Amino acid sequence: HTHRINIAIDGPAGAGKSTVARKVASALQYVYIDTGAMYRAVTLKVLDSGVPKDDDEAVGRLADGLDIVLLPGGDGQQVRVNGEDVTAKLRSLEINRSVSYVARLSRVRLRMAELQRNMAAGKGVVMDGRDIGTHVLPDAELKVFLTATPRERAKRRFLELEPGTEITLDQLEREIEERDRLDREREIAPLLQAADARLLDSTGMTVDEVAEEIVQWGLAAVRTISAEEK
Ligand code: CDP
Ligand code: CDP
Repeated sequence: HTHRINIAIDGPAGAGKSTVARKVASALQYVYIDTGAMYRAVTLKVLDSGVPKDDDEAVGRLADGLDIVLLPGGDGQQVRVNGEDVTAKLRSLEINRSVSYVARLSRVRLRMAELQRNMAAGKGVVMDGRDIGTHVLPDAELKVFLTATPRERAKRRFLELEPGTEITLDQLEREIEERDRLDREREIAPLLQAADARLLDSTGMTVDEVAEEIVQWGLAAVRTISAEEK
C-alpha cells in the first residue's frame, strides 16, 4: 500500500496544464480535476442568464445554485451543471473572453474553492488551475507552476481552433495575455507561483516529456513521505 498525495498544477493559459495533468493522473491512477472548467461552467450560465458579469451579488447567487459535477469521460472530463452535460460548450471564444471577469468575483471563488477542496479531501488528486497551490490546496505535497512563452502558448491554442475560426495568431496571443493579466492582477487568489512550487518551463518540450517530469517528482514526493512515516 503506497501513500497518496495531492498534486497542484498552476500556470497561465495554454501552458499545457490540463493536457499534462490528465496524463499525470492516468499514470499514477489518480483523479484529475480541471478547475478552469468549473469557472467556465459558471460563465456559461452567467452568459445564458443575462446576469451582468460584474454583479458579485447576482452572479454569486447564481453560482450557489449550480450543482457542478466533474465526471471522468472520453478523452477528458465531462462537466455537468444541474444534470446537463455542458462539456462541448465550455471552450468557446466567447467564454474565453468573459471567464476572467466572472472568476474575479469573491462569492464565485469562495464557492468554487469549497467544491474543489471537497473533491480533493481523499487525496490522490491532480488538480489544475490558477490558485490551487496558493489557495485551494496549500498543503498539496507537490506543487508545479507550469509556464511557456506567450508565443508558444498562443501557437498551441491556435492549433486547437475549429477550422474557419476568425482569429489570427497575433490576436489570439493578445487575448491570452489579456486574460493572464486579469488573472494575475485580481484581488482574490490571483495567478501566482506558490513559494514552495517547482517552476517548469515547457517551451520546446513535448507533452510526454512534461508529464514524465511531473510523474517523477510525484513518485519522489511519495517516497519521501513514506520514509518520514517509518
Ligand atoms: O485552459 P485555459 O488555461 O485557457 O483556461 P482554464 O484553465 O480553463 O481557466 C479559464 C479561466 O478560469 C482562467 O483564465 C481564470 O480566469 C479562471 N480560473 C481561475 O480563476 N482559477 C482557477 N483555479 C482556474 C481557472
Ligand atoms: O490547461 P492549459 O490552458 O494550461 O493548456 P491545455 O488546455 O492543456 O492546452 C495546451 C495545448 O498545448 C494542448 O493542445 C497540448 O497538446 C499542447 N502542448 C502541451 O500541452 N504541452 C507541451 N509541452 C506541448 C504542447
